[in-house]
Order: sequence, then C-alpha cells, then structure tokens
Amino acid sequence: MKDFIAIEDYSSSEIQELLDLAENLKNEWKLQGNRQILANKTLAMIFQKPSLRTRISFDMAMRHLGGDALYLSPAEIGLGKRESIADIARVMSGYVDALMARVFEHEHILELARWSSIPVINGLSDYNHPCQALADALTIQEKFGTLKGLNVAYVGDGNNVAVSLLHICAKLGANFAIANPEGFDLNERALNSGKKIAQATGCLVTILRDPHQAVQNAQVIYTDTWTSMGQEDEARIREKVFPPYQVNAKLVSEADSDVIVMHCLPAHRGHELTDDVADGSHSVIFQQAHNRMHAQKAILARLLGGL
Ligand code: CP
Ligand code: NVA
Repeated sequence: MKDFIAIEDYSSSEIQELLDLAENLKNEWKLQGNRQILANKTLAMIFQKPSLRTRISFDMAMRHLGGDALYLSPAEIGLGKRESIADIARVMSGYVDALMARVFEHEHILELARWSSIPVINGLSDYNHPCQALADALTIQEKFGTLKGLNVAYVGDGNNVAVSLLHICAKLGANFAIANPEGFDLNERALNSGKKIAQATGCLVTILRDPHQAVQNAQVIYTDTWTSMGQEDEARIREKVFPPYQVNAKLVSEADSDVIVMHCLPAHRGHELTDDVADGSHSVIFQQAHNRMHAQKAILARLLGGL
C-alpha cells in the first residue's frame, strides 16, 4: 500500500481496517490527543484547485499526529507547466515524506505516484475523490453501525464524488442507486468496475433518471454541486438541467424516516440542497466534513506511520 489514489485499489477488508483505524484515532484524539506517530514527518500538499476542507483537515491531521504539512498553491508549482510532473515527483521525494495533490486530470495523480518514491494521496481529481468517500463511509458507519445492506441514493451529477461513493458502497456491501439527468452520467469505466465489485460483495448498483425512485427506502441521500471545479463554462446549462434533482424536504420525506442527508461541501444552498434540509434533523453534513480529518489521519497513519 504505497499510495491512496482510488477506492478500487483497496480490498473490502483494507477499507474496513482504515475505517476502524479512523474511528480509533478519532476516539483517542477526543480523549487525550493523538500519539505522535508522525513525529518529524512532512506532507506536501499540492493544490491546482481551491479547497477548505481538504487543505485544513490534512494540515490539522498532520499536526495532531506530530508531523507537519506544507501548502503549495496553484500559482507556486505549475504542475506539468513550469516543470514536468515526473521531475516534480522526483524532486519532492527527496524533501518530504508524502505528497497530497488536488488536480484537474486524474492522469496527473497517477503520474505523480509513478515517479515518486514516497506515498501519494489523491485529494480530488476530475475522476474521483477517495478521501471524501472514506470520510463519508465513516459517517454512515457512525450512524448505522455498518454499510452492509444499506440503501444509498445519490441524486445529481455523476461526478468525481459519486464515483468514489459508488466504489466504497460496493466494497462495503451497500446498495447504491444514482439518479442523474441524461448526459451527466457516471464515468463508464467507474460504473463497470463498481458493478463488478458489487457483484462480488453481493449488493446492487442501480442507474436511474428519477430522483424520487432513487430515494425509495434509502437510509442515505447524497448530493453534490451541479457544477464541479473546472466545469464553470457549463454552469448556465447545468443550472437549467438539474433543478428536478434538488434535495429538498419533499424528496427527503419520500425516503426512510431515519434517512441521513449528506453533501461533501461546499454546498450551493437553494440549488442542489435547500437550507431547511442542510440545517435540518436529517443532515449530517458537518459531521461528514469533520470526519475528513479523522479518515485522513487513518490514511496518513497507514501510509507513513506503520499502523
Ligand atoms: N469536500 C471537499 O473536498 O471540500 P474542499 O473542496 O473544501 O476541500
Ligand atoms: N464535485 C466537486 C467536489 C468538491 C469537493 C468538485 O469537483 O468541484
């Protein structure tokens, strides 16, 4: 386990172990603070896109575990522009102990990993968002004890967040239904691998157009922005297509009575998620955001701390 690039790369039991480690580290931190298992370790964080959660939660995770984090803004590195990714990876491998990168093209993360002798963590690419999925699964596990047998409904754009959620649901045995408008489907390769994983773990992947159908019997409703970073040119078209996919009180009332509503944030309130739902009793969006730090501590501890 050198890198953390995609949920597909890990077995179901490895993911479950990461979740359990995250839970332990969260409890330990709450009670007495974390053991300094990453003393003298440094994580460099390369960002090609903006971030609140990923940046701060990785930084604080490193500090709590006794290490340090270095933020590199889009202007500083010029990934693949000022310098080739292969050269950046080899230079950084001599300075720091691990790299986290948020990129546009998924291929760039793969290339960083290919050329680095140190662990590389995917902090979001146009293809997926595996750190988010781990925090999401932790949040669902905290509420329901397990993901196995749950019905997870994703409503909205078939984007990077949806891809990683599909894969973690499939790995952990939760049924995954997505309702998205035509033309905004999940990446085909991701869907096929999700179906294959689900077949092996005995759960279902369902592709729908109708959000009302998707949330039937759902214990989890998940949504994300209609326009992801890098798609700003399409924002006007998307704003016209997606309103039927809004997660609002009516849609939530059609799911299980103990349904939780999730969103990776940042939320565009009044668009994909209404204020009353975001701030209502079903919402776990802030617990989910906070769990980013705990999930990432587990990733860091596993890749760097020998846990
Ligand atoms: N959910 C998430 O990745 O948030 P940021 O873009 O703020 O890091
Ligand atoms: N799908 C969103 C997630 C942001 C955390 C994006 O890529 O912009």
